[in-house]
Amino acid sequence: MANETIEWLGNRLRILDQTRLPQETSFIDLTDYRDLALAIKQMKVRGAPAIGIAAAYGIALGAQSIRTSDKEEFFVRLEQIIQAFAETRPTAVNLFWAISRMRQAATGRNVPQATKALLSEAKRIHQEEIAATRQLSLLGADLIKDGFRILTHCNAGSLATAGYGTALGIIKAAKGQGKNIIVFATETRPLLQGARLTVWELRQEDIPVTLITDSMAGYFMNRKEIDCVIVGADRIAANGDVANKIGTYTLAVLAKENCIPFYVAAPTSTIDVSLPSGTAIPIEERDSREVTHFQGFSIAMEDTKAANPAFDVTPHNYVSAIITERGIIRKEYQEETAGLGRS
Ligand code: MRU
Repeated sequence: MANETIEWLGNRLRILDQTRLPQETSFIDLTDYRDLALAIKQMKVRGAPAIGIAAAYGIALGAQSIRTSDKEEFFVRLEQIIQAFAETRPTAVNLFWAISRMRQAATGRNVPQATKALLSEAKRIHQEEIAATRQLSLLGADLIKDGFRILTHCNAGSLATAGYGTALGIIKAAKGQGKNIIVFATETRPLLQGARLTVWELRQEDIPVTLITDSMAGYFMNRKEIDCVIVGADRIAANGDVANKIGTYTLAVLAKENCIPFYVAAPTSTIDVSLPSGTAIPIEERDSREVTHFQGFSIAMEDTKAANPAFDVTPHNYVSAIITERGIIRKEYQEETAGLGRS
């Protein structure tokens, strides 16, 4: 499944359209970088690491369409392409990390060299992220005991990483070690990544999963039916504050109140050491129709005002550990994140 989320096909990028799951497994072949930027905005491809990988391929795709041998003109056009991706989604830092890697790969080269180097770099980023998610999943699996009942939020699996997954990667790796795992997946309003995507992925892996509404989490924690919470992340500040799907903060507070470990799993491309704390993380505000409407149907009175922040920030003191491919960080986040940034 990992390789189906995003696939480079020589002259085009194939993505699995995540907005149509689970009803339909359909793919979109993209040859125009603008269509890919739109697909990221519309969340046909989504999840922090997957957004970074898709944008990297998109920049390579865009560069291939620049018809000039003039170096200066090429780099002006390349910046416009990069800008189109930078404007898609603001919270996941993996996007900006990938953009910076792509810029570096092209710098100082002539047009054919830069075009070639951009595609190689996109492929490298993809391969590195696959390896990183596999490695962090193996490390994280050691925290999971046989019989654990794990609550996860949103979707942090193969779909979100175009790799092995982060939160779901750990769950898969623990199962691979022969442990019996039961997952509680929150539906994740308003776009239902939990109900639509996480349940779909876990059922493919034959991992028992119970879908709950977001508001049921406290009920199950209070009844001692959850042993740990594992979520992914969109951006982790230097002090360990974590931006992730809206509702994550609520789960972290509930977990602390109920003495349940709250784990965050992310590749180091998600760590933003340039931000001292989570307060500076830009939070994407999406169309309020995602809240007032459900699959095209209005569920609120016409003209209802609705807020739609797509992410929230969980302060580091609610986080029991951050699991990365380079190791597990506990408590001393500031010191440890500094050494983990990946260029
Ligand atoms: O808005 P989305 O669906 O892109 O948000 C995804 C999440 O919040 C994930 O938890 C996060 O990107 C980590 S994915 C490994």
